[in-house]
Amino acid sequence: MDGGHEGKIAVIGAGLMGHGIAQLFAARGHDVSLMDIDGGRLARARDDMRGNLAVLAEHGMVRGEGIEAIVGRVAATARLEDAVDGACFVVEAVSEDLKVKRRLFAEMDSLCPPEVVLATNTSVISISEIARDAAGRERIVGTHFWNPPYLVPLVEVIPGRDSAPWAVDRACELLLSAGKRPVRVKKDVPGFVGNRLQHALWREAISIVEQGIADAETVDEVVKLGFGMRLPVLGPLENADMVGLHLTLQIHEYILRHIESSPQPSPLLREKVEKGELGFASGKGFRSWTPRRIGECRARLQRHLVEWCGEKGEGHGDG
Ligand SMILES: NC(=O)c1ccc[n+]([C@@H]2O[C@H](COP(=O)([O-])OP(=O)(O)OC[C@H]3O[C@@H](n4cnc5c(N)ncnc54)[C@H](O)[C@@H]3O)[C@@H](O)[C@H]2O)c1
Repeated sequence: MDGGHEGKIAVIGAGLMGHGIAQLFAARGHDVSLMDIDGGRLARARDDMRGNLAVLAEHGMVRGEGIEAIVGRVAATARLEDAVDGACFVVEAVSEDLKVKRRLFAEMDSLCPPEVVLATNTSVISISEIARDAAGRERIVGTHFWNPPYLVPLVEVIPGRDSAPWAVDRACELLLSAGKRPVRVKKDVPGFVGNRLQHALWREAISIVEQGIADAETVDEVVKLGFGMRLPVLGPLENADMVGLHLTLQIHEYILRHIESSPQPSPLLREKVEKGELGFASGKGFRSWTPRRIGECRARLQRHLVEWCGEKGEGHGDG
């Protein structure tokens, strides 16, 4: 630990992302209030944080005061008024539902003094749309974390149409002080940067399976053992520069008309959802999943992220 930080943080929504964001700030010394309308989810959040921190501790990534002191800084509440009371920064991580988020931001705006920054962790929804019904739209920004938020370094910081530069600056400063790597997105467009890129890839991956070009196992292998191996150290635009823009142009002139460009979700994806083939949750999605294989897949991902972050000293919010 680096001695703790001033300022209470409120995290609204204690699900997969919310409990991890709360843990991240608590590990940096902030008092955190964590709020959810689901009492069961709120009760599980502490144990989830303990579990996450135990894995980090095994890799020497929890130093100083230890797990219980970190978890002890997170106060759970079912009341929004109590959660935001005295907070200097609020992060919303409730379900990805525009109406729910819009209502919540209007309410938080009426509860919090004007200098408090209100941030949404929406994955893809326009920040301006979420802020629409709040009077103080200048202090509403997007802070898009990636799962698990206490490990993955990146946070996209997105201004809404009416966001003030001070609110964006404050969000970036807070995230930097929490050990994250904030990047400033210039325009409030659906999907921001990361999810536009990610879902362009997923759309093509599904289309390749749908067209019978390759099966799902092969698609995943092509990514993991092929160009995916370069991605942690070479972004697509660095890569384009590396191979040369002349070649990139030649490739695009030939290939782009053959790549999936549908503005609708794939019929195969719809069909699977209608049949109840939901992935891990039902044991079958694009791939087949037994409980053992699900456990192995999750463990593989966690090990990769922890080892990568431990090596780089990145992301885990304790340092
Ligand atoms: N899961 C991811 O990988 C990921 C990554 C980045 C961003 N996000 C975004 O973060 C947000 C949360 O995602 P998640 O995966 O944690 O979802 P989740 O379903 O795990 O958790 C959402 C929580 O919000 C609570 N909730 C719903 N309405 C509420 C309200 N009005 N007040 C308080 N709590 C409320 C629910 O009870 C639930 O516990 C979504 O906007 C999602 O798109 C998710």
